[in-house]
Amino acid sequence: MPVSRAMGSRYTVEYSKEMQEYFEFVKDLLDSDVVNEMKNYRHHYSVTCFQHSLNVSYYNYLVCKKLGLDARSAARAGLLHDLFLYDWRTKEKKPGEKPHGFTHPQIALENAKAHFDVAKREEDMIVKHMWPLTVKLPKYAESYVIVAIDKYSAALEISVHLGRLMKNKAKQIKNRKAS
Ligand SMILES: [Fe+2]
Ligand SMILES: [Fe+2]
Repeated sequence: MPVSRAMGSRYTVEYSKEMQEYFEFVKDLLDSDVVNEMKNYRHHYSVTCFQHSLNVSYYNYLVCKKLGLDARSAARAGLLHDLFLYDWRTKEKKPGEKPHGFTHPQIALENAKAHFDVAKREEDMIVKHMWPLTVKLPKYAESYVIVAIDKYSAALEISVHLGRLMKNKAKQIKNRKAS
């Protein structure tokens, strides 16, 4: 069984007692080939699509649970919201095709529906997670939560990358001074 940890969390989702409920909600997704395929695609710097989706899923679950919203849908939609399965940096665009930011929520939803049962609330969360880029208003409170958590997770991932860069730079300067 793969060990997975959301960034910033001390716990792996498979083994922590605290996360037992979360894991039960997403176990079938985490065990599926199609969700694991996201490990092949880089998303924000060195963070893969899988790690980003796990981050969104985990924090979405925590926030929706705290707010008394549908935590199961939050966990599942979070893991599926970016299931577009291509490298958005290198994918060729067809003439007239809108940029990735506008198109991938619909592609992710189609892929999710092809492999799993996706509830109406989860559909809305997946297809509106880029709102307000995707113009249609979210229909559920959980959809507004994923809009915020997706951006929070992206910021976390980018800041971890920048932190690593700064650490390496500081190390280089220190080594230069020492030599
Ligand atoms: Fe996305
Ligand atoms: Fe995302």
